[in-house]
Amino acid sequence: MKIGFLASHRGSNMQAIIDACKNGKINGTPVIVISNNQASGALERARREGIAAFHVNAANSGGEREADLRIAELLSSHKVELVVLAGYMRKIGPAVLHAFPDRIINIHPALLPRHGGQGMYGDKVHAAVLESGDLESGVTIHLVNGEYDKGRILAQVKVPVVPEDTIESLSAKVLEKEHQLYVDTVARLAAGDLKI
Ligand code: GRF
Repeated sequence: MKIGFLASHRGSNMQAIIDACKNGKINGTPVIVISNNQASGALERARREGIAAFHVNAANSGGEREADLRIAELLSSHKVELVVLAGYMRKIGPAVLHAFPDRIINIHPALLPRHGGQGMYGDKVHAAVLESGDLESGVTIHLVNGEYDKGRILAQVKVPVVPEDTIESLSAKVLEKEHQLYVDTVARLAAGDLKI
């Protein structure tokens, strides 16, 4: 299965999936990485791994619509079969959604539908969990549609929240589970064990 990534920052989830493709846990090939952020760790990792890397955003494409079309075109021309969002901070446009129906997945660092939606990303999610008094948080992998964090849930894992937790400690615990669950889910999709 050919995998394309969209990522904006560090790219540790993307790296976990690339590593799993290399060691055979995932029957897949990473073929392209696209980032809106030229300075992202994700693009740096892609170059280091010898994966085609593209910087695409509204500013360098002549607008949001053009960027969406360019991303759809790049993913299609690289014959991508699964689009993996890994810390991608832009909304997926209609051209990409149309070109990859039920073929785009995202990871969220909490138990959706709690603590999701527009503006809920990174440390804001963990701060909201701590604020809410929830006794557990976790990881959600879901299909992507036109609304933030609203697509069908494919997999979840829970992480206990303890009174001593800080944003940093919770985020570290959740990130470790993110890497495991994203790798497992992509492996199951590639093997045909998980149907979408
Ligand atoms: C992760 O916490 C992920 O859940 C969220 O953005 C973060 C990305 O981290 N969507 P990384 O870039 O994969 O290291």
